[in-house]
Amino acid sequence: MKVLVLTEKPFAAAAVNGIREIVEGAGHELALLESYTDRSAMLQAVSDAEAIIIRSDKINAEVMDAAPKLRIIVRAGAGYDNVDLEAATARNIVVMNTPGQNANAVAELCFGLLVFAARKFYTGAAGSELMGKRIGILAFGNVGRNVSRIAKGFGMEVWAYDAFCPKEAIEAAGVHAAADRDELFRECDVISLHIPATAETKQSINHDLCATMKKNAILLNTARKEVIDEAGLLALMNERTDLRYISDIKPDLDAEFAAQCAGRYFATPKKMGAQTAEANINAGLAAARQICDFFATGNTRFQVNK
Ligand code: 3PG
Repeated sequence: MKVLVLTEKPFAAAAVNGIREIVEGAGHELALLESYTDRSAMLQAVSDAEAIIIRSDKINAEVMDAAPKLRIIVRAGAGYDNVDLEAATARNIVVMNTPGQNANAVAELCFGLLVFAARKFYTGAAGSELMGKRIGILAFGNVGRNVSRIAKGFGMEVWAYDAFCPKEAIEAAGVHAAADRDELFRECDVISLHIPATAETKQSINHDLCATMKKNAILLNTARKEVIDEAGLLALMNERTDLRYISDIKPDLDAEFAAQCAGRYFATPKKMGAQTAEANINAGLAAARQICDFFATGNTRFQVNK
């Protein structure tokens, strides 16, 4: 079988070496298309692939139609909003993710960004500390749980809310379970977003919700830019000049945020949360193993389009 690693944002070399060992060790062929810039190269590369390993790469019906042999797509990472699941199901293609494999990397970046913001972006101005502040984690999955672990090390008070996780499970992790999302936003000094981008969550972090945030609060988004109602948040940040917004990946209104909210806004140019050698190795090797296992035994444990 031909397994293609198709990553616009490349894995660390050690991850590619590990993927190769697993794939070739199972008797399959490995092909690589990294750092591609044009779609025609991508469409050409998938033409004879039976399996592909991707990151945030957009895989839609056009890509699938260019890949007539494709049987499985594994998103080396957590969020699979970049794959058209309906199109995959209609073509009998299995889609999987590798949950949890890059969660620590994203959680660590949260604190890199938070300290940077709390210390006024290292401009020399006096900032503030995280100890004693209350962090509100929206969605208590793999990343949210890692954020709670690290936040405790900083001496922060940790709250969380997750519409799909029982309060008992949050409390069992030693975290205060907020009654609902509104209470979380109202009561915390930092709100850290870990919700996926779905039809329900897109644009759900809006003007009115953020308007309830505490004075000097920080909104930290290492989830997806699509969950933010950017125009609403921008308007609010003009009304509330105490609020700060930190995003791992530029919003569509990056230029407007940068111009209108100078000193209170920062965004990474590329999504950096999972961009560590360790996360690449964890997620990349898991993806390779899942593909080999699928071909060998039909295992679909991590399938997301069942
Ligand atoms: C994920 O969903 O796993 C993270 O957002 C990482 O995405 P990336 O592989 O594009 O860095």
